[in-house]
Amino acid sequence: MDHVQHIPVLLEEVRHYIHAESGGVYVDGTLGHGGHTEAMLNDSAPDGVVVGIELDSRNMEIANKRLQSFGDRVLFVQGSYSDLARHLDDLGIEKVDGILLDVGFSSSHVDDPTRGFSFMNEGPLDMRYDFDQELTAAEVVNSWSEAQLAEAFLLYGEEKQAPKIARLIVQRRREKIFRTTTDLSETIASAIGRRGRIHPATRVFQALRIVVNDELGSLKAVLPQAESVLKEGGRLCVISFHSLEDRIVKKFLRRSSDLQVVTKKPVTPTEEEQKTNPRARSAKFRVAIKQKSNDNQEQKKT
Ligand SMILES: C[S@@+](CC[C@H](N)C(=O)[O-])C[C@H]1O[C@@H](n2cnc3c(N)ncnc32)[C@H](O)[C@@H]1O
Repeated sequence: MDHVQHIPVLLEEVRHYIHAESGGVYVDGTLGHGGHTEAMLNDSAPDGVVVGIELDSRNMEIANKRLQSFGDRVLFVQGSYSDLARHLDDLGIEKVDGILLDVGFSSSHVDDPTRGFSFMNEGPLDMRYDFDQELTAAEVVNSWSEAQLAEAFLLYGEEKQAPKIARLIVQRRREKIFRTTTDLSETIASAIGRRGRIHPATRVFQALRIVVNDELGSLKAVLPQAESVLKEGGRLCVISFHSLEDRIVKKFLRRSSDLQVVTKKPVTPTEEEQKTNPRARSAKFRVAIKQKSNDNQEQKKT
């Protein structure tokens, strides 16, 4: 194996809530290295089916190798979960029993400096999950206006010093455009200095990743599609990793009249899991069940 395998987050909790069973059809909208899908396939043996959607062709290849033994019980789709309904339509699948979204990046994205996600290791300013996409982090950093950059850093990075960082980036790029991750992270560090435990570039890198991959837009797009393709009694399971994502999920679930939330508070990883997999620390897991139409009518009346 020439890659570090992504450790699936909240694996037992996902297995419990998605409750994959023989005969069921499930969607893993963020296939990654296939950890959660493998568990769903095992739990739904002998004939459950999992549709695995993944934007990143390299991760898709890793998952494909890992899941070979399941044969045609796993259907691979290279694309975005934001097109969930179309992907299912293309496969001739009308309704599904469960949908998992474990959003964001995988270990291989941050561990591979050539992908440009990590400010700790030198690499190109890339940050795309989808190699076919044109927009890269370098394009954003070198061409967006100072106001656009400041807004993105504030909105998606919740970076209080966004205007100062944006100003310095625009000044610096007049002399030399940004090409590498460390070039950008050093410029940010020189703009705002070191504060506390987190690296000064953390929030800006998060903002760039969200912008480049339109992460919040994709999440907003998939939720209503998930709601409508679920069978009655089907489960929607979403793991998110920062408050911006969790807020979108929470709001959507609260407003939906078809989905009944079963996790009053989000499920979070045990201390044990946080110790063994530090990436799991910020995970928040929310689950909702599609109501029977009668239940909906009852609820609307009350
Ligand atoms: C946290 S990882 C999932 C890990 C997976 N659950 C496992 O056990 O290996 C998230 C994955 O979603 C992919 N991804 C991100 N945005 C996506 C999108 N809009 N559509 C499909 N896949 C996406 C990323 O490339 C990454 O591989």
